[in-house]
Amino acid sequence: MYVCLCKSVTDHEIRRLVHTRGVHTVRQLRDETGATSQCGKCARCAHQVIKDELAGVSAKKTGWLPPLCTP
Ligand code: FES
Repeated sequence: MYVCLCKSVTDHEIRRLVHTRGVHTVRQLRDETGATSQCGKCARCAHQVIKDELAGVSAKKTGWLPPLCTP
């Protein structure tokens, strides 16, 4: 799904950047993609996607994956 409509950034892209570019904060995501830099309405959801993905990385051993934020 699109997280940032202004910059056309999807949750899939954010998750990929967490692993490939070491994106761990919304600021890093903004620097990489421009997400959150226009209207800013996506910041909360972008933060949640990053947080969930980082938690998912450490939770893979247990099989638990956190839910995605709702827009
Ligand atoms: S929806 Fe992301 S900056 Fe507007």
